[in-house]
Amino acid sequence: MDMPVTYKIAVLAGDGIGPEVMAEAIGVLQRCAELDQFRVELSESLVGGAAVEATGKALPEDTLSNCEASDAILFGSVGGPKWEKLPPNEQPERAALLPLRKHFNLFANLRPALCLPELSAASPLRSDLVQGGFEILCIRELTGGLYFGQPKGTRIERGETVAVDTMVYRKSEVERIAHLAFQIARLRKRKIVSVDKANVLENSLLWRAVLKEVALAYTDVELTHMLVDNAAMQFIRAPKTFDVVVTENLFGDILSDELAMLTGSIGMLPSASLGTGQHGNYRFGLYEPSGGSAPDIAGKGIANPIAQILSVAMMLRYSFSLNDAAARIESAVRKTIAKGLRTKDIWSEGTVLVSTKEMGLEIRANLDH
Ligand code: IPM
Ligand code: MG
Repeated sequence: MDMPVTYKIAVLAGDGIGPEVMAEAIGVLQRCAELDQFRVELSESLVGGAAVEATGKALPEDTLSNCEASDAILFGSVGGPKWEKLPPNEQPERAALLPLRKHFNLFANLRPALCLPELSAASPLRSDLVQGGFEILCIRELTGGLYFGQPKGTRIERGETVAVDTMVYRKSEVERIAHLAFQIARLRKRKIVSVDKANVLENSLLWRAVLKEVALAYTDVELTHMLVDNAAMQFIRAPKTFDVVVTENLFGDILSDELAMLTGSIGMLPSASLGTGQHGNYRFGLYEPSGGSAPDIAGKGIANPIAQILSVAMMLRYSFSLNDAAARIESAVRKTIAKGLRTKDIWSEGTVLVSTKEMGLEIRANLDH
């Protein structure tokens, strides 16, 4: 018999609810590995505020080299009030997450906004708009635009403080995210809405032109363009009409939070950040919940671990092509929700309130069909 394959995973739990939800996700991953006969070698590293406390840096060299030696990164969340007084460049979010994205060239951020039919009551939208649930996949460009453009900084000009951020996109950067979006759309409903601000921004003129050009190679996929302010409205008016949405970095940051809210709880939503890099046979990626470290509920055992658990499923699918194992986790989550178990964020009258740990254990138990 063949030896089972071993996947090396860097585990960076971080701050706030990160460690609690990560523990449940690891439990699910390990059980899944037993059932699907693969092996995982997990190596934990400090990141974010936890790393600042221990080493003075939000992204210590050891952590980075652990990630480099791994096939994928499973990330929790970073940041919290304790570190808000640090200079902007040393804060966990800016000093850990952004450099990781840049270092590994993680240019494509996939954020599925999944509203399960059973949870549509948790959505703040009117029930007729979300009935039956929906899933919108937001594909956000992650290493360009205003986040990283140079020059960037604050200076004094004629006695007045001036802050500068620069929005830059190269054609090749738009092309690679566009190709990925079309390839993913082919696996889904074959329609893409590209979001930009082409009535104002030079960047968006380039974005739109490149999307149109790339579309010529995918004539089986329908492409439409929408201005970002209008998209913000249409998501609320008619969420079920969307499937794949592709957009630049800052628009994607904002719109993906809006989409998360429409599903009812950000505690349900995973994400994948994919790069160009191959590690051996695997596509390198960083997988993390879409929500943050939620310091207000950290340590209380009430956080929803589903976003972290579904991030494991995305890792198995996108980095290791373990599609059956990924589907096993996703269906265990659905089964658990169908049984009526709910953490506080998604609880409603008539359902069973459970802790982070209970939710994790139940999902783990539901892995064997
Ligand atoms: C996100 C977050 C980050 C971002 C912050 C923490 C830097 O909001 O992943 O959406 O703006 O990209
Ligand atoms: Mg954000």
